[in-house]
Amino acid sequence: MFNGNCITCHKETQTISAPSVVKFKEVYKNAFPEKEEFINYMSTWVFNPKAESSLMQDSIQKHGLMPHLSYDIDTLKEISAYIYETDFTTRGGKYWSK
Ligand code: HEC
Repeated sequence: MFNGNCITCHKETQTISAPSVVKFKEVYKNAFPEKEEFINYMSTWVFNPKAESSLMQDSIQKHGLMPHLSYDIDTLKEISAYIYETDFTTRGGKYWSK
């Protein structure tokens, strides 16, 4: 799910049209070291992206606010958990499957 969708805009280690996964994960992990909070905040934010609750104001300036995607909250929680668990820095930029 993450690979098919989020990856369109978020590359693993390179920031092109949106911050890389490595980058936003780092920001979120610093803010929410606890897995549960990380998952809750990220899934809620992606469910309804808002500038006010963004942790990455500089990215909004640079790329514009992330568009709303039509995922249900449970799917987003799964994706957020996957992001929390996965080390994207060792993947070498190639696509992988869950
Ligand atoms: C159409 C392009 C696009 C897609 C698809 C997309 N994103 Fe984003 N995303 C962005 C852009 C651009 C930003 C940077 C601006 C911002 O923070 O709103 C961003 C920012 C983020 C942030 C940082 C939020 C913050 O605090 O500002 C998270 C987390 C995130 N995306 C997660 C995801 C996840 C998870 C998916 C897949 C379910 C996804 N994105 C799919 C474009 C996209």
